[in-house]
Amino acid sequence: MTRHFLRDDDLSPAEQAEVLDLALALKADRFSAKPLAGPQTVAVVFDKTSTRTRVSFATGIADLGGVPLIIGGGESQLGAKESIADTARVLERMVAAVVWRTFAQAGLEEMAEGTTVPVVNALSDDFHPCQLLADLLTIREHKGALAGLALAYVGDGANNMAHSYLLAGATAGLHVRVGAPEGYLPDPAIVRRASEIAAGTGGSVTVTTDPAAAAAGADVVTTDTWVSMGQEDEKAVRQAVFADYIVDAALMARAADDAIFLHCLPAYRGYEVAAEVIDGPKSVIWDEAENRLHAQKALLVWLLERSAA
Ligand code: CP
Ligand code: NVA
Repeated sequence: MTRHFLRDDDLSPAEQAEVLDLALALKADRFSAKPLAGPQTVAVVFDKTSTRTRVSFATGIADLGGVPLIIGGGESQLGAKESIADTARVLERMVAAVVWRTFAQAGLEEMAEGTTVPVVNALSDDFHPCQLLADLLTIREHKGALAGLALAYVGDGANNMAHSYLLAGATAGLHVRVGAPEGYLPDPAIVRRASEIAAGTGGSVTVTTDPAAAAAGADVVTTDTWVSMGQEDEKAVRQAVFADYIVDAALMARAADDAIFLHCLPAYRGYEVAAEVIDGPKSVIWDEAENRLHAQKALLVWLLERSAA
């Protein structure tokens, strides 16, 4: 059966741990796995801009012996002239997998339903699950384990990163706390799903409008831009709404003494995070960015193996 990765809870807790184990192994021996030798092609399609996702998938697919085919927004017939379903059927005849950064989660689901090759969400309006694999890998490297740690996400609680932290964090057994203002709280359906998962992993989910309460004693503090791709028209309103949710030294002081700071990047210093934090000693953002490569390679290897079984 073809396995896709459209949202964080497409991997069970055991499967998520397998992918992270594999990522650590591939990081230690970067060119050992060549499942795409042939070489096979992987299509990587972008409807939104990207630096990390584009470079990490292109590099990772090459590391695995394959050829990355990067297709930018407006460069293919997809969307404007051809349906997702027809595109899905053409791609499966030639490529080993489809990686897609787009707006609507429903589009990814339609692509996955219409094709026999794995489809990977490289960020949608609702989720950024590849980023979470890299984040969990980074936390594991710095903290030794995941289950039982407290992670505070402060800022826009309704965006793709917040939703992915809830689902992937609960899957990993983390105590996930989201601190966000009224009107920008996570989707209740995602909170319910994350709580269900947490009940089975020993984790927990807390949503609060108080950033200090979210950060109290946390092992990991993280945030994301206040203005996600596609929300540029709301910039002024958002900067006002989120002003009290900046991760600065005062907020970090509420976290555990050995807390680490994560940010998926790109970052806007002085808005969601103060320069003293993101450029300070607790920040592990460059490890996090590098781990996109290792985590996504592991994901591709795992999806291809499982889909062939
Ligand atoms: N974090 C992340 O996905 O970065 P890019 O938008 O540069 O790919
Ligand atoms: N929430 C951000 C993440 C960027 C990697 C966005 O969607 O723009």
